[in-house]
Amino acid sequence: MKLTCISGSARSGGSTEYLIDTFIKGAEENNAEIHKYCINEMNIKYCLGCKKCYTDGKCVHNDDVFKIVSDIVSSDYAVIAAPSYWADVPGQLKTFFDRTTPFGDTNPNRILKAEKPIKGIAIAVRAGVRQAENELILNSIQHYFGHLGIETVKRVSICETDTLNDLLQKHQREINELYEYGKSLNTAI
Ligand SMILES: Cc1cc2nc3c(=O)[nH]c(=O)nc-3n(C[C@H](O)[C@H](O)[C@H](O)COP(=O)(O)O)c2cc1C
Repeated sequence: MKLTCISGSARSGGSTEYLIDTFIKGAEENNAEIHKYCINEMNIKYCLGCKKCYTDGKCVHNDDVFKIVSDIVSSDYAVIAAPSYWADVPGQLKTFFDRTTPFGDTNPNRILKAEKPIKGIAIAVRAGVRQAENELILNSIQHYFGHLGIETVKRVSICETDTLNDLLQKHQREINELYEYGKSLNTAI
């Protein structure tokens, strides 16, 4: 079983990465093959909107995007977590989404696509109280998954979390659930 897990925060070591790591700890109990990326640590250039990729499936940039998407489309599970930044995903994650255009189902010449059914898990975390704002983040991740042919099977929303300390103090139940969910993934895959 292969998993690709992406922390979509602009920083490492915060709540978003903690949630990804929690999920990974559970999945490790299954001896899963796990590929983890912190989007802020990757070399990802902006999409230029040139649509050259629509002609030959290749991007004009040569950076980390191909490697990350290659892992996603050859996985059994893809996990993306993001904090709310102005009620949306952080720019770094949005840039990664934009740069996946060569490999999305709207591209007639895509050179990478899912090799088998992939399940997607979307996680959103925010400082404020309203769940509705996290739904926007989760919808954005689910939309991304959809264009890669990934079926979203779980959406996790965590509010009232501005710091890692908030997460640890208020959301032990959700943390445990995420760990257990990672642990429960189908090892037969
Ligand atoms: C630039 C920026 C914009 C933010 N915008 C929002 C927002 O619109 N709504 C919200 O609830 N929290 C917002 N936050 C708070 C983050 O969602 C929150 O602190 C989150 O837990 C950060 O995750 P991290 O620890 O992985 O960085 C914002 C934080 C930053 C840095």
